[in-house]
Amino acid sequence: MKKISVLFVCLGNICRSPAAEAIFINLLERKGLTEGFIVDSAGTGSWHIGKKADSRMRIAAERRDIKILSKARQITSKDFDVFNYILAMDDSNFRNIQDLKNRTVSTDFASIKKIQDFRSVFDEQEVPDPYFGGDEGFDYVLDILEDSVNGFLESIS
Ligand code: 4NP
Repeated sequence: MKKISVLFVCLGNICRSPAAEAIFINLLERKGLTEGFIVDSAGTGSWHIGKKADSRMRIAAERRDIKILSKARQITSKDFDVFNYILAMDDSNFRNIQDLKNRTVSTDFASIKKIQDFRSVFDEQEVPDPYFGGDEGFDYVLDILEDSVNGFLESIS
């Protein structure tokens, strides 16, 4: 069976989207669905290419038994022809993804959405950027993402 491919996207690809990727991978493992999916994350920006996720996010996720293993990369036009779903963390990411797609790709393969379209518990319409804030912001991002990533899986099941 063809795998479903999902790309989570934020700005730097060191905080929110690697966390979303790891939460989704963890959820798929718990549900026995790993084989059916390809999961990745990327940033719209290029500053952190090749770096591990922010240690504050890795530590916060580790406390929930979620391992963040990804290395940062930047989204490319090829991603629009590879991924079934491209899920943005906030409105700015969403616009930048759409702009890149409109400039570079003529096909409509990928479904581009905001991850918070799938929220149920939290009201936040965007995943807030925790990078310049305190440690509690990282836990809050994980709480939000556990809710909306779960909602996303339910929406496609
Ligand atoms: P992310 O967070 O988009 O969730 O990975 C950020 C990481 C780095 C920067 C901004 C946001 N930065 O400006 O370097």
